[in-house]
Amino acid sequence: MRTSVVIGNWKMNGDRVANIKLLDRLEKELSVQNNCAVVVCPPFPFLSQVAGWLLSQKINIGAQNVSAHNYGAHTGEVCGQMLTELGCSYVLLGHSERRADNYESDTEIAAKFAAAIETGLTPVLCVGETLDQKNAGLTQSVVTGQITSVIEQLGISVFNKAIIAYEPVWAIGTGETATPEQAQAVHLAIRTLIRSYDNILADKIAILYGGSVKASNAKALFSQIDIDGALVGGAALDADQFISICNAAA
Ligand code: G3P
Repeated sequence: MRTSVVIGNWKMNGDRVANIKLLDRLEKELSVQNNCAVVVCPPFPFLSQVAGWLLSQKINIGAQNVSAHNYGAHTGEVCGQMLTELGCSYVLLGHSERRADNYESDTEIAAKFAAAIETGLTPVLCVGETLDQKNAGLTQSVVTGQITSVIEQLGISVFNKAIIAYEPVWAIGTGETATPEQAQAVHLAIRTLIRSYDNILADKIAILYGGSVKASNAKALFSQIDIDGALVGGAALDADQFISICNAAA
């Protein structure tokens, strides 16, 4: 039985007052049990505030990015050691917005993945196809290619301490959620890819769905055998929505 995981990706949102209102609701009202890990990923400037607020350990903290480098002359970057010192235990990597906005390549993502593992962070590898790729029937080849790129550079064993998040780009922020069946088909393809390398790991690794997950569709998504939770964007900033999604995963 895999542990469910629900991750709230705050993206470039939040302020000190709004953060406290949201975190206070989550701390008081989340009733998830041990079989569901809840993570919030605030922007870098709010990591200390969030860590200082989440004292109950009921909610884990993640970052939205990490440098491939350690300390040193890397202006504007944040290394894994700094994130773990701030209380982070997860880090999102390869999010489609960073692949697009920051031209992050599969090679750069693999380097960040290695740095995350080296500093004790659990990487959450985000993969997903664009609408054009979907319409061209390239969904599974794009998604498996993004994962295989990391495997070929780092080896399959690094996924023993990792999570994969399938986020179809055409579903992010659009309200066009993949149907449970669409998502399940891609999750199965991902798990089958992992199984071709390591049968035990394939049964263990959490594969999350992301892309317009809401309280209204979470239960149907989580009912699919290969969907182990969600990577939530907009709904993560709404306490009612996020609590409902977490409870649906538990
Ligand atoms: O990382 C999660 C995010 O990309 C999904 O965003 O707003 O469609 O839930 P949203």
